[in-house]
Amino acid sequence: MDSFEYNKIIGALLGTVFVIFSISLVSDSLFYSPNPEKPGYAIKAEEAPAAAGSEKKENPAKAPIAPLLAKADVQKGASIFKRCEACHDGTKGGPNKVGPNLWGVVGRPIASHPGYSYSAAMKDFSDGGKKHWDYQLISEFITKPKAEVPGTAMGFAGLDKIEERADVIAYLRSLSDNPEPLPSPEAAKPAADAGGAAAKPAEGAKPADNAAKPADNAQKPSEAPKQ
Ligand code: HEC
Repeated sequence: MDSFEYNKIIGALLGTVFVIFSISLVSDSLFYSPNPEKPGYAIKAEEAPAAAGSEKKENPAKAPIAPLLAKADVQKGASIFKRCEACHDGTKGGPNKVGPNLWGVVGRPIASHPGYSYSAAMKDFSDGGKKHWDYQLISEFITKPKAEVPGTAMGFAGLDKIEERADVIAYLRSLSDNPEPLPSPEAAKPAADAGGAAAKPAEGAKPADNAAKPADNAQKPSEAPKQ
């Protein structure tokens, strides 16, 4: 074999290597799958986290109902209430059924309807009649009655959707000669603002200005105990 022959063999080898490398480069770029920045799925929380962000696993039942009540739909609430009517009458002076009459239940002391025999669990929950059914408490109870009041006789799975709770509570509120005033949606605001500002940090000068304020607010509670 002369050197020309060797050159051909080496050339063929180099050529093969070149082809293999090219194929792997091309296929890498064809089937390129970037690693996500954050592994796993991002799960959006329904509610803004508390200002301090201390509670990571929040109970969805605790989500503040006040901000949703302002825009709740009483009509929709009336149709959701049909599910409650299997056990509850909502008319003035109406009977107790499987569950107590719910006329005027918003603001009423817990477990206080005359002529109804409440479970021991519900009586305990009422704290000797000191606790009243405010909007937030009703919302938490009807999210999952058996979780909020373990041992309650209310055999109802619950309303997962906070909008449905707001609608039905707006309807319950209307079951009164003298409906309770709606809660101020401001109640839950500082936390919501802080969450909002943290969620959009890069949006020009204005949001940044706003972001400073809730951050100040958010620090106050943690500073307070030190003084
Ligand atoms: C399967 C029957 C059933 C259904 C359906 C039901 N409830 Fe009840 N509910 C009860 C019973 C029973 C009690 C009494 C609980 C106890 O004593 O532990 C009760 C108690 C309550 C109370 C406390 C009343 C008080 O006087 O302290 C509220 C508020 C309430 N229910 C709201 C609702 C709403 C709103 C719905 C519909 C979204 C609903 N319930 C659906 C059976 C039911």
